[in-house]
Amino acid sequence: MKKINSKELRALWCDFYKERGHKIIPSASLIPENDPTVLFTTAGMHPLVPYLLGEKHPMGNRLADVQVCVRTGDIDEVGDASHCTFFEMLGNWSLGDYFREEMIPWSFEFLTKVLEIPVEKLAVSVFAGDEDCKRDDESAELWKKMGITEDRIFFLPKENNWWGPAGVTGPCGPDTEMFIDTGKPKCSENCSPACDCGKYLEIWNDVFMQYNKRADGTFEIMEHKNVDTGMGLERTLCILNGYGSVYETDLFRPAVSLIEKLSGHKYGESDEVTKAIRIIADHVRTSAFLIGDPKGIVPGNVDQGYILRRLIRRAVRFGRIIDLPERSLSKIAEQYISQYGDVYGYLLTNKDRILSELDKEEVRFSNTLQQGLKEFEKVITHIPTKTISGKTAFRLYDTYGFPIEMTVELAREQGFDVDEAGYAEAFKEHQKKSQAGAEQKFHGGLADNSEETAKLHTATHLLHAALMKVLKGEARQRGSNITAERLRFDFGFDRAMTKEEIQEVEDLVNEQIEKKIPVVCEEMTVDEAKAQGAIGIFDSKYGEKVKVYTIGDFSKEICGGPHAANTGDLKSFKIVKEQSSSAGVRRIKAVIGQ
Ligand code: SER
Repeated sequence: MKKINSKELRALWCDFYKERGHKIIPSASLIPENDPTVLFTTAGMHPLVPYLLGEKHPMGNRLADVQVCVRTGDIDEVGDASHCTFFEMLGNWSLGDYFREEMIPWSFEFLTKVLEIPVEKLAVSVFAGDEDCKRDDESAELWKKMGITEDRIFFLPKENNWWGPAGVTGPCGPDTEMFIDTGKPKCSENCSPACDCGKYLEIWNDVFMQYNKRADGTFEIMEHKNVDTGMGLERTLCILNGYGSVYETDLFRPAVSLIEKLSGHKYGESDEVTKAIRIIADHVRTSAFLIGDPKGIVPGNVDQGYILRRLIRRAVRFGRIIDLPERSLSKIAEQYISQYGDVYGYLLTNKDRILSELDKEEVRFSNTLQQGLKEFEKVITHIPTKTISGKTAFRLYDTYGFPIEMTVELAREQGFDVDEAGYAEAFKEHQKKSQAGAEQKFHGGLADNSEETAKLHTATHLLHAALMKVLKGEARQRGSNITAERLRFDFGFDRAMTKEEIQEVEDLVNEQIEKKIPVVCEEMTVDEAKAQGAIGIFDSKYGEKVKVYTIGDFSKEICGGPHAANTGDLKSFKIVKEQSSSAGVRRIKAVIGQ
């Protein structure tokens, strides 16, 4: 078998189809267009559904591509050797053009000639037939002609050899799947690609789309018949190179090494560590693609945003298990961005957004995770049954940000289960209440003062940092006062600032505002804050842990908050007065958003 990397496999695929009259189309967004039945693009054929249903494609009727896909049905399975939530699918399509007679010989050629897989290592499955569609003898005959012996052709039911539709309705049909026989002994007399004993590894799927599934569950024969094939990039690389898991492929290896370096743990050190590293590597990659997508999303509480939040929070939780330092996820994402940037340029364009959203969500959750885990421990030590109540699960969500799936996973690890129906009820109850709250707030009218003061608070940090830069570290804070209209900042300096200095400070602050930098809050000990170079008043009144607000690499300051979420919220900054306050102390008054 050919030992190749991801770039080579993508290129071999596209070249093979170009030579056979196909147009190579760009990968579509991960967020499906006009399809309310699924949250993400789950297969290469997904963005092509209208064309598979008969609409004319502008590039013709022979297409091929490498499509990014996200499948989140198995998030909890990620951590084993093969599951990924994000993957690339190599695909080719005939839109009413060629059919089985061309496709099966091409498949055989690509596998045996291009990928150099010995024919005796191949096995295939074909549809066994049922009331919806007849047995696929044509495919079996074609495989035989290619030299696949009968004992390697398996007839399997719809469960195994039928594909689609991608959502609830749409094009679908019988398929023929191709497998590598690992050479392991048969697990039983009936051993086939349908069992998961690991003897047969699926490598490719050719779907012969002859049907359209209607909303009422019936199948109509389509006038024009299509071919839709899909080969998973990660999985194929893993098989060709004889790796034990997809995480050993060149797609994951740099991220795995980085996680090892950041955490100080080694992949393979123990099952627990390996699992955690895989989860982090997978979830960060998926999150980076979802945020960086041309139709990029951000973490939220519903739909795609919720899945993204779950992925990031799960990565944070498993990060704790291997001592991954806080704010590592964006570093891992950065690795993926540079690695994939030449294939998916939008990752580079949207790099800042990817990094800041990951950082924000990681820090947000890190602040409550530890407490939430303590609370969880308390709960399971004290409840008399093995079931965590819906109310408790909701409290873990509402107070500590634990997605319900995380609570269920944690519970399962400890031999408990969760009353998920009770959770759904508690959730609904809460929604009703907060709906009422939101309406009230809306009727209250204008933004309240606290929002304005939070922004002025952030402006004060920016001003402080800018003064330190322009006045070469001499401008230590002496006092601060904020009203809804303006900020007032006193600092130690023994002469009036020049006009140029004032302008420079103003410009520096406005630059940070224009850069739209997220304001990130972390909790740490005073010593840690000092070690990180945070400024602020290191007073004993702060107690053991302090909050440190970081604004990019511009400002890091100990502070109680609250702050704006992003410097962009400030809109603009203007110094309206610079005057003497007392001996050796100057006073600045400034406003924002003008
Ligand atoms: N749609 C099929 C699959 O996802 C083939 O592309 O496997």
